[in-house]
Amino acid sequence: MRKTLIAANWKMHLATHEASVLVHRLHQHINGHRDVEIILAPSMLTLQPISVELDRRRFRLAAQNAYHKDEGGYTGEVSFSMLHGLVHYVIIGHSERRIYFNESLEDVRDKVAAAVRNGIVPMLCTGETKQERDAGETRQVLHDQVTTAISGLTAQEVSEMVIAYEPVWAISTFGGELAKPTDVARELAFIRHQISELYGEATAIQVRILYGGSVNEHTAAGYLALEDCDGALVGSASLNYRSFAAIADVAFKLRHQA
Ligand code: 13P
Repeated sequence: MRKTLIAANWKMHLATHEASVLVHRLHQHINGHRDVEIILAPSMLTLQPISVELDRRRFRLAAQNAYHKDEGGYTGEVSFSMLHGLVHYVIIGHSERRIYFNESLEDVRDKVAAAVRNGIVPMLCTGETKQERDAGETRQVLHDQVTTAISGLTAQEVSEMVIAYEPVWAISTFGGELAKPTDVARELAFIRHQISELYGEATAIQVRILYGGSVNEHTAAGYLALEDCDGALVGSASLNYRSFAAIADVAFKLRHQA
């Protein structure tokens, strides 16, 4: 059975000492659960010091981005090969990167391939903008984002990856309109259906699909209870240890009931 993943995307927040304090608090307030993985994605600068402090039996690390080439004259970039051994996951194609840094479908595809090549599990982010949603283009956008990103992967590689559905309009920094769980359920099922069409049922059953967009301790249960929802990618609420621990608690309780 798929595990539930609760991932904290700290985005461009928390200097090293602040991140260290938050990790300390999370150690105090989040216990392990065999069916739930807790993942922290701090800034690139903070990954290394946090990795030394982290209880790896309870938490896994993710990077928020990396560059698709393994090495060379790419001033300012960090490669997936440099992250090998340090992180378990890398968030790829977050809407903030697609929108602010012009990451194209092909850039995202190359990053997914580089992650897999370097033994890091990609957490591919997908999601439509408000404009695309209003124009009825959600399915087309999700189709293009998913199929392009995984086009070079084998069924085995796809079965091990994570896909997050984060409608841009629901992300707190882009407006934070609350998505209805019934709407989210449809899009998560659509993403799993896409994987099934491309790689077969067995792969679709294994791929983990998360929801992200203004998830907090009050909204988490509505999303986590959905059949196709394997967890949450949490932004602003993950900066507060009480909120993030409460979200983890919701996941623990749901797994106990299952
Ligand atoms: P918020 O939870 O702040 O809406 O952010 C969601 C997100 O972008 C996680 O990657």
